[in-house]
Amino acid sequence: ERGADDIVPAGSWEAVREAARACTRCPLHCHATQTVFGEGPKDARVMVVGEQPGDQEDLSGHPFVGPAGRLFDAVLSEIGVKRAALYVTNAVKHFKYEPRGKRRIHQKPNEAEIAQCRWWLKQEVDLIRPRLIVALGATAYFSLTGERRRLSDVRGQMLGMTEGRRLLVTVHPSYLLRLPDPQARQAEDARFREDLLHVLGAAS
Ligand code: URA
Repeated sequence: ERGADDIVPAGSWEAVREAARACTRCPLHCHATQTVFGEGPKDARVMVVGEQPGDQEDLSGHPFVGPAGRLFDAVLSEIGVKRAALYVTNAVKHFKYEPRGKRRIHQKPNEAEIAQCRWWLKQEVDLIRPRLIVALGATAYFSLTGERRRLSDVRGQMLGMTEGRRLLVTVHPSYLLRLPDPQARQAEDARFREDLLHVLGAAS
C-alpha cells in the first residue's frame, strides 16, 4: 500500500484536497462515488468534524448536505451561526455502506479506516488552524484524540488541544434523527443547541 506521505505534495489546501481525491489508503474508495473533502473558509476559526459522508454527500461530493446536514444547518441558524463561516469536514472521507436492494445503508467506519483517514484530517487541521474544533459524535472524537471515551463523559465541555486549540464534543445530528420518542428528541435537540452555542463566541 502506498503511504499518503508519498502522494501528497506538501503545501496548499488545494493540493491536499486534490491528492485526497486519489486516496487508496483504505478499501472504502473502491465502492464510494468520490472523496468528500472538507469545505469552508481557509481561515475559519471553527472546524466541525463529522463521521463520514452519507448517501447524499457521496453523490454530491459535499459534506453534510443530507438529512443530518439539514438538521445541523437548522440548529446553526436558530443560534445565529452562519454555516458559511465554518470549515466542515469528516473523520472519514469516503462513504461506507452496505447495498440493500436499491438502498445503500450507512455502515460505521472501523478503527483501521478511521486511522488511515486521520492523516487527511490532520492535514486539514494543520492548514486551517482553527481555534475551536467541534467533534460531532464518537468517531470524530476518537479520530481527533485517539481516545475512546464515553461521549457523555466529555460532551459539552471545552477541552484543551495542542497549540491552544480547543475541542468541543457533542452528539452527531444523526443520533438526534434516530430518537423515536418526540419528548426525548426535543430535550436532546435543546442540549445539542446549547452545546453549539459555544461556537458563537469562537466563530467571531
Ligand atoms: N454524516 C456525517 O458525519 N457527515 C456527513 O457529511 C454527512 C452525514
